[in-house]
Amino acid sequence: MLKQKDLLGLKDLSKENIELILSTADEMRKVVDSSPKKCDLFKGGSMATLFYENSTRTKSSFELACSYMGGVYTSLNVATSSVNKGESILDTLKTIDSFDTDIIVIRHSKSGVPHVFAPYVKASIINAGDGTNEHPTQALLDMLTMKRAYGKIEGLTVAILGDIKHSRVARSNIWGLSKLGAEIKIFGPETLLPKGIEKMPGVKMCGSLKEAVSGCDAVMGLRLQLERMTKGLIPSMGEFAKKFGVNEEVLSWAKKDALLLHPGPVNRNVELSYTVVDGDQSFINEQVTNGVAVRMAAMYLLNQAKRS
Ligand code: CP
Repeated sequence: MLKQKDLLGLKDLSKENIELILSTADEMRKVVDSSPKKCDLFKGGSMATLFYENSTRTKSSFELACSYMGGVYTSLNVATSSVNKGESILDTLKTIDSFDTDIIVIRHSKSGVPHVFAPYVKASIINAGDGTNEHPTQALLDMLTMKRAYGKIEGLTVAILGDIKHSRVARSNIWGLSKLGAEIKIFGPETLLPKGIEKMPGVKMCGSLKEAVSGCDAVMGLRLQLERMTKGLIPSMGEFAKKFGVNEEVLSWAKKDALLLHPGPVNRNVELSYTVVDGDQSFINEQVTNGVAVRMAAMYLLNQAKRS
């Protein structure tokens, strides 16, 4: 059983707790695959989503996860909320907390926002992405996808490519994968590699795309986060695609049947070619499906911890 109130990142989550969430998510996947998609594991529970940044996958999968488990939810539309009248993050969170909400899912453009405000509310906080810091449930769903394909994470080699500097997904994956015994090969433009990345656990820095992808069990492209980028970090999208993008030839350097992963949304023909996004090795849609199972598991386990 989880013993913590919040899920803020994988940096501070133990190997045992990561494994617990993954094994619970594997069970939850049976509900996702069944018809009707129903269980009572969050019956009587309530969730609120508070997204200060846009989302398709994360927000809708939390909503579905809540519904499949018999809970109720409200999704605050930040653009039309009192945030526009100047309401602070703390007051917005305290307002939602006053509805006796069990779980608040928050995404914000500033790193550390969920960590700063979690102690001020009774609800369990789930970090749905904070700036460039962490996106724990994304990394958990990526790991679930690998675990379901290979039966394990330990001993796998995973290439993470492209815009590492702005990627909370990369950071959460590095924390999580390294704890579970995977090797992480990193390659991207020098301008998009953050300081200190080479010192993170399990990381091997690579000098070429071929070195990074060769022999990998999974190849993860990352979205070029143009909204977080100061101008001039890459010469052009076309140039990036040529040097750092994954196409059929690049994917052939990995192990036979290696998984192609991407957190989405994909810039097609930039990080990944059209052919590989829709190809046989693409597990991108499987990642999305696993996202519902992982979020069911996280909500269920946090709620159990709160009620125990
Ligand atoms: N991967 C991810 O966080 O996607 P969304 O921005 O659509 O939620």
